[in-house]
Amino acid sequence: MTTFDRQLLELLRDADSIVALTGAGVSAESGVPTFRDALTGLWAKYSPEDLATPEAFARDPEMVSRWYDQRRCGVAGCKPNGGHAALAELQRRAAAEGKQFTLVTQNVDRLHQAAGSTDVIELHGTLWVWRCVDCGDEAEERGPAFSVYPSRCSCGGKRRPGVVWFGEELPGQALLQAQRAAGSCRLFLSVGTSSVVYPAAGLIDLALRNSARVLEINPQETPFSSRAHWSIRGMSGLVLPELLNASFECTS
Ligand code: APR
Repeated sequence: MTTFDRQLLELLRDADSIVALTGAGVSAESGVPTFRDALTGLWAKYSPEDLATPEAFARDPEMVSRWYDQRRCGVAGCKPNGGHAALAELQRRAAAEGKQFTLVTQNVDRLHQAAGSTDVIELHGTLWVWRCVDCGDEAEERGPAFSVYPSRCSCGGKRRPGVVWFGEELPGQALLQAQRAAGSCRLFLSVGTSSVVYPAAGLIDLALRNSARVLEINPQETPFSSRAHWSIRGMSGLVLPELLNASFECTS
């Protein structure tokens, strides 16, 4: 059983605005491979640049579509873990008490939503929505693997996964919303992210500049560990539920 700093527990209980930024680590205990981890077997010969750029899709839409469809189907078998559940609970608790809670994720797996989180800001899009490159039509795909690659829109155009590729801009509205929340929160949680991919990592900077307290949960050190007010080295699926319970029970 971990002992948490009392000030952290009180802040988690009392803060009127909390932002949580999550990355691949939050889904690790659900068995979702990170982008790099998924480059195994047949895919081992490819680099992320071969698969996750607009140029790659233009060059070989069949291969890129197969890769993302395989990841989509892989994630379909994954369940949210205790970390996802704890963040959903934190949001419910905040809503019940009239407080702000904003969940910002870099993950494309939608496991936060599966755990009950709502209004999740998806900075890097999602594997579940596919978009026509010609007419822009978007459709949520929850079914089995596609039978044709690239999959086609009813207008005949090729459909691409609704994720943000390297070299592409983040969805403007989502980024703006995330920046506003990070720049005005009292407590910022950075969970399971290596904090090296910008502009997502810049949200922590923004929070720090605006005097928020920052908690990091990660089994490994990151570039922000030394600047975080609390840095808990552990797995979010275990740490978050314990932390939340401890803050529920904390009386002052
Ligand atoms: N609990 C918490 N953190 C964990 C756990 C765990 N169980 N397991 C691993 N981690 C941490 C790792 O130590 C690492 O710091 O999660 C982090 C995952 O880092 P990345 O794989 O770089 O993921 P992320 O920060 O989400 O990357 C950002 O980069 O690959 C692109 O677009 C992709 O959205 C992704 C972005």
